[in-house]
Amino acid sequence: MKYVMVSDLKTKGKFKLFPATAYSISPFDHGVLYGDGIFEGIRIYNGRIFKLKEHLNRLWKSSAYIGMKVPFSKEQLSKAVASLARKNKILNGYCRLVVTRGIGDLGINPKKCSIPTTFIVVDQIALYPKEFYEQGLPVSISSIPKIPRECLNPNAKICHYENNILSMAEALKKGAREAIMLDLNGNVTECTGDNIFLVFGNTLYTPTTRNILAGITRETVIGMTRKMGLKVKERDIKPAELFRADEVFLTGTGAEIVPVNKIDGRKIGRGNAGPITLKILRRFRAETLNPKNSYPIQ
Ligand SMILES: Cc1ncc(COP(=O)(O)O)c(C=O)c1O
Repeated sequence: MKYVMVSDLKTKGKFKLFPATAYSISPFDHGVLYGDGIFEGIRIYNGRIFKLKEHLNRLWKSSAYIGMKVPFSKEQLSKAVASLARKNKILNGYCRLVVTRGIGDLGINPKKCSIPTTFIVVDQIALYPKEFYEQGLPVSISSIPKIPRECLNPNAKICHYENNILSMAEALKKGAREAIMLDLNGNVTECTGDNIFLVFGNTLYTPTTRNILAGITRETVIGMTRKMGLKVKERDIKPAELFRADEVFLTGTGAEIVPVNKIDGRKIGRGNAGPITLKILRRFRAETLNPKNSYPIQ
């Protein structure tokens, strides 16, 4: 049986373990009513929580942005995630850590929520079938622009994904598996749950962090590639450049490193996983097993 760890108004703000099927979130929780909350998705590799420190730092930045204090310390959350992974016997898997504004009334007023709801799920995740990592993923360019940062800062990881969900639904209708979202000026930003990289020769190009979530996998890739003798440039990217790239790949905690083989039906590079993408994927896998990057569950 799988367990979840929850702290909310009903548990008086203390973490409690519940069988996953025995806990239900309140319909008055503002995370449910308004998407008012923040979250992190974190991988566990070989009994260690990958880049936990970086995920918690980002959670703290997101909480500052929405003006809500996370009701635990980083150490308490680290220990809670580790103990849940042990309880659920997950040595390789995925953790979802969510902090919502909490239980309030039906109105939007966040001040009516006295205690944030914090919940942790640790389970298995498989985002794409194995063949996508070899043959590449078909993606499309979304007709729906990304919410501008002046309205909602994409650097904060907020439980409000409707903009991304609408783009994903459109992509699926077109037979693609991900959507590339553009900003209001028509620049490439990111996908609905991943960052994007273009490869031209030995140089990688990726959009600046102005209009994207500064992904932890993106940062890891940037750090590794510099050591691999590849150059990385962060700058604005127009959609036309995507079609001229030798390779395009996506990065994210769930997806890891996934090659793109087609964009709106047009072949990218050779139309399968390119050599640089595969090299980065291999190096990334080694990085996930390096203990200096992670927090032990034991
Ligand atoms: C919109 C968006 N961009 C990028 C990413 C990739 O970020 P990370 O590598 O930290 O998982 C995610 C996933 O969390 C995301 O939801």
